[in-house]
Amino acid sequence: MQTPRTKIVDVLKLEPPRSGIRVKGWLRTVRDSKQVVFLELNDGSGFGTLQAVCPANLANFEQLRKLSTGSAVEIVGELVASPAKGQRVELQATEVIIVGLADASFPLQKKRHTYEFLREIAHLRARTNTFGAVFRVRSALAQAIHGFFQDRGFVYVHTPIITAADAEGAGEMFRVSTLDPDKPPRTPDGKIDYHQDFFSKPTYLTVSGQLNGETFALGLSDIYTFGPTFRAENSNTTRHVAEFWMIEPEMAWADLDDNADLAEAFIKHLLRAALDRCQEDLAFFNERIDTGLVARLQHVVDAGFERMSYTEAVRRLEQSGQKFEFPVFWGANLQAEHERYLTETLVGRPVFVTDYPKEIKAFYMRRNDDGKTVAALDLLVPKIGELIGGSQREERLDILEAGINHAKLSPVDYAWYLDTRRFGSAPHAGFGLGFERLVMYVTGMENIRDVIPFPRTPRNCDF
Ligand code: 4AD
Ligand code: MG
Repeated sequence: MQTPRTKIVDVLKLEPPRSGIRVKGWLRTVRDSKQVVFLELNDGSGFGTLQAVCPANLANFEQLRKLSTGSAVEIVGELVASPAKGQRVELQATEVIIVGLADASFPLQKKRHTYEFLREIAHLRARTNTFGAVFRVRSALAQAIHGFFQDRGFVYVHTPIITAADAEGAGEMFRVSTLDPDKPPRTPDGKIDYHQDFFSKPTYLTVSGQLNGETFALGLSDIYTFGPTFRAENSNTTRHVAEFWMIEPEMAWADLDDNADLAEAFIKHLLRAALDRCQEDLAFFNERIDTGLVARLQHVVDAGFERMSYTEAVRRLEQSGQKFEFPVFWGANLQAEHERYLTETLVGRPVFVTDYPKEIKAFYMRRNDDGKTVAALDLLVPKIGELIGGSQREERLDILEAGINHAKLSPVDYAWYLDTRRFGSAPHAGFGLGFERLVMYVTGMENIRDVIPFPRTPRNCDF
């Protein structure tokens, strides 16, 4: 019987000598020194590579000498203490099976490639150290998210991806249609006749699961969603993609303070999980991508998040004496430069900005008694800016209806949503965490395109 394969992450933990070790992976380097060939193998199970030493007496030695980077191989041998420095152990190969050759045009060679270049070969970048580490961390964070909510009795709700409702009321939706774009059916007055479309009305990809999530919270009390969301906004920044993943908890019987408490506990839990479970990968990011990363994450876990009203934030920005590209005044949207100044320079750690002017926030946010602001919160963090957006929801039917009308949306489209305020309405609150921004925050990666497997951005939908 064949010895089973061991993942390299586990092989690297073994005490040598150990015979009968079988590994499978892709070649990172091949060094030919005439008498022996050194193969350096990685299988994505962890950060480390395993060096295999292939002696000249192997039957296919001449073929091994011609192997090139990227090839898939299977190696059997004895794990021994390595005499050379650079690795603790190495594999003394007794058999090397060439599984899949890569020819010399394989684009990933042992040197640093730019992230721009790697984005053009996103189908191969999972073979690199950086992307292996990013996507292991991303996976660990996804599990930690479910763990956090499941342990607190939140029910995971799968909200729909195709929808007729604009959850943010911002009109940034991708249309979903099966009509022939060259000859769509027309109504007598020349408009496109969506009655003949698949759903018999205009439909879109969702921008947020929140409205559906609210209906479940007003029944199950505590719920969360975790799924893909889509924004047809023409933003070419390092923090925006057209398709991203969002986590949206929603709690009945909760106000804005409860919401901030949950968000703070949530972020701390996720950072702690990454620090505990992804030590090797974080050590790599700390060394190669962002010195000070681990210390910063640890500091955030230990420190309290600051809370500040929008009005206070604007006052402090105005008093800062700082020159901004966009002007700061009460009523203006905070721009990325303002957000980063607040969290990086003024506060030096994560800060909740709350109670924004109602005119710059979504229709569903709860109107405050001052008549000017809504019970909104954004969580701003150093290096990223906005990580979370949320609010207490307007539970009063008449005020919500007025908000929908004011936003020039149609109450008819939101009739089902308004029903929740007709039948046993209750205070509730929730927020949305952009998953890719979280992964950026935890890894120190600076471009959102490098923390999602296949980024979708304006004029780019390859792979
Ligand atoms: O602030 P946003 O638009 O809030 C909502 O969608 C609410 N419905 C959430 C809720 O209350 N349930 O988006 C929430 C978060 C942002 O803070 C940001 O982290 C992320 O989603 N986000 C994006 N991430 C990547 N690319 C984009 N284009 C993003 N737009 C928002
Ligand atoms: Mg927002």
